[in-house]
Amino acid sequence: MGVTVPPSAGTRAIISLVGMPGSGKSTVGRHVARHLGLPFVDTDHLIEQRIGCSIRDYFETQGEAAFRDVEQVVVDEVTRMAGHVVATGGGAVLREANQLALRDRTTVVYLRATPEDLARRLRHDTHRPLLQRNDGDPLRRLRSLFQERDPLYRRTALFVIETGRPSVHSLVNMVLMQLELAGVVPVAAGPGVPHP
Ligand code: S3P
Repeated sequence: MGVTVPPSAGTRAIISLVGMPGSGKSTVGRHVARHLGLPFVDTDHLIEQRIGCSIRDYFETQGEAAFRDVEQVVVDEVTRMAGHVVATGGGAVLREANQLALRDRTTVVYLRATPEDLARRLRHDTHRPLLQRNDGDPLRRLRSLFQERDPLYRRTALFVIETGRPSVHSLVNMVLMQLELAGVVPVAAGPGVPHP
């Protein structure tokens, strides 16, 4: 019986996902990685391993600037590792060093979502410190974050995927199709992506 080798096993490509909190970076990234047979890494997860507590607690005790320093080190490290898919934190693009590391060393996909869609998806979220600290109006907070960051995501990314309300399955297919068209990963020989 033959061994099935995933289409991109062995590729040195790094595919990274940027976008607002709640845009689906981790979920879509994990599925894209699985489909390509590549490891998946999540910078927030690596940061939490490093700081030894939740990002929320770290924000509270050390402040945002200290968090951004750790994030910058982690982004620098993951963009030097060959062959994987990486989901970044929503604020990673705030530092120019991160924009450059992502843009120069990886193929960046921006999962774009409107503040209204994000507010709907995040209405029960209690983990994201930037959305907790506000005047009780998450939509207003998301609108102002989006206004500041949308140009930064666009500047960093090679592809922009409008997420709207499609399923994870179709988002994963859109990302894979863009990567194939750009020649970043080989064209899949088999049928489309199985339902996640
Ligand atoms: C942040 C987003 C979070 C996390 C941290 C800061 C931000 O990641 O990195 O709470 O500035 O938008 P997600 O985008 O995965 O929520």
